[in-house]
Amino acid sequence: MQMPNLAPIPELYVSYESAQKLKVEAGNLPSWDLTPRQICDLELLMNGGFSPLKGFLSQADYDGVVENMRLADGSLWPMPINLDVSEKFADTLEVGQDIALRDQEGVILATMTVTDKWVPNKAREAEMVFGADDSAHPAVNYLHNTAGAVYLGGPVTGIQQPVHYDFKARRDTPNELRAYFRKLGWRKIVAFQTRNPLHRAHQELTFRAAREAQANLLIHPVVGMTKPGDVDHFTRVRCYEAVLDKYPAATTTMSLLNLAMRMAGPREAVWHGLIRKNHGVTHFIVGRDHAGPGKNSQGKDFYGPYDAQELFKKHEAEIGVEMVDFKHMVFVQEKAQYFPADEVPEGSTVLDISGTELRRRLAEGLEIPEWFSFPEVVTELRRTRPPRSKQGFTVFFTGFSGSGKSTIANALMVKLMEMGGRPVTLLDGDLVRKNLSSELGFSKEHRDLNIRRIGYVASEITKNGGIAICAPIAPYATTRRAVREEIEAFGAFIEVHVATTIEECEKRDRKGLYKLAREGKIKEFTGISDPYDVPENPELRLETENVDVDNCAHQVLLKLEQMGLVAG
Ligand code: PPS
Repeated sequence: MQMPNLAPIPELYVSYESAQKLKVEAGNLPSWDLTPRQICDLELLMNGGFSPLKGFLSQADYDGVVENMRLADGSLWPMPINLDVSEKFADTLEVGQDIALRDQEGVILATMTVTDKWVPNKAREAEMVFGADDSAHPAVNYLHNTAGAVYLGGPVTGIQQPVHYDFKARRDTPNELRAYFRKLGWRKIVAFQTRNPLHRAHQELTFRAAREAQANLLIHPVVGMTKPGDVDHFTRVRCYEAVLDKYPAATTTMSLLNLAMRMAGPREAVWHGLIRKNHGVTHFIVGRDHAGPGKNSQGKDFYGPYDAQELFKKHEAEIGVEMVDFKHMVFVQEKAQYFPADEVPEGSTVLDISGTELRRRLAEGLEIPEWFSFPEVVTELRRTRPPRSKQGFTVFFTGFSGSGKSTIANALMVKLMEMGGRPVTLLDGDLVRKNLSSELGFSKEHRDLNIRRIGYVASEITKNGGIAICAPIAPYATTRRAVREEIEAFGAFIEVHVATTIEECEKRDRKGLYKLAREGKIKEFTGISDPYDVPENPELRLETENVDVDNCAHQVLLKLEQMGLVAG
């Protein structure tokens, strides 16, 4: 059995006085504005959550981590923690130089001595760390489409913690938690990792896990970055607080972990174990498909359901935290009580509601029974997730110039306005280019920027309960996906491919642009001299030849109705 060593662990911060001095000096260093994910990583590096790491991985450490989950000195570490930067920034740096690391407001949080600078083999990293170079995996998608091309490694000197304005009292560094456990005399602590709201089954299983291990319980939810599409952490924390009251007093506590998850299944489980060890816990609950990313591009699970448990078990001694098996709990109607699925009395009626079913009930405003969740939790979830017919959403038309996007989008807008209930905004390609993107041309970089701007505005509209209709060409699949992810955090994203063929568009040539493109007078013209990625799985594909505009717009309306977004 593990006994906790609750002595403080090393942090990377310098003293208050040194920090004040260093901050001034660091003002003259080349500086890097950290991404949201890097801020999460830096916080856990500095406060010891990622101990034994002393900074962003060097190339030798990175290679070891990618190939066999070990740092160059042999210690177990499953996850690459890198400072990924743009080529442009990397080119300005020499190895040996110090740089300042700033948050998004420009506050200097740390300095780093760049000891290593290299271009990683991202395909290899994806294969080894995430199990497949498949962009359906959120971290692989991040690696290829968000992370910078160059990695910097080197030790970090901490100046100050990233600032948080929310739930301050619920955020603890590893040393704060260790001190808390020491103070309360807790010797055995089971941690429960989660990125989802807690319902009764979770409360039952965590309570049982702690009771079986004769331990105290730490609910340790991730509030940094989780899987795109998850319930936002503000809502979740309000839900957790409601559930916390249901545990026997003085046995359980909750602390928020500002971790940026990678959804790396087995490797992630080992990583979570090491992080929890640093936070002073002795036991860790690992469930079926722990930190699973969902389906790959072939529609299969990325990892086997018990891969995470197996890998954790294999390294349990080295992690220094005992694994507690996560029991799938189900409600037995006759007993009005929860049982582990494998201990249900024979012949009894088992009730269970899957995550998908729960989302459906929330989306449609249907009943969620008390045996399933606590009324406070349901109320909280309903507040953030009103039924779909009251949520904002985005209809995103994509297709060639002259395909009919704008005309159909206009017709749809009018129909939605006639129905009333929610404000409607049309972000038409030409309108946006005039009002938001007037300085942009048609290079890949500029088109991406243009679409990202549209996505940003549409996500704000969606978040605030309105309807955004976008109608740009949006030729690149990865950019459309990024916009989808941004919007799906707040509401539905309906991609409509206006599938008019390039031949037909050229024949129509309403604006005379195809002629000019053929003559070489307009460069980089989509479909003629520039690529268009045909959407693979749009919510709707519209054939426009021999179909009138009214009918096309009506097809979109029917789709919206089918998705529960507009009342029938
Ligand atoms: S993109 O790729 O999504 O940023 O394009 P978008 O903002 O929708 O702008 C497309 C409109 O600009 C006109 N135009 C061109 N389109 C494609 N390629 C090139 N090189 C180009 N130059 C100008 C064209 O009229 C598009 O209008 P629509 O409404 O699509 O016909």
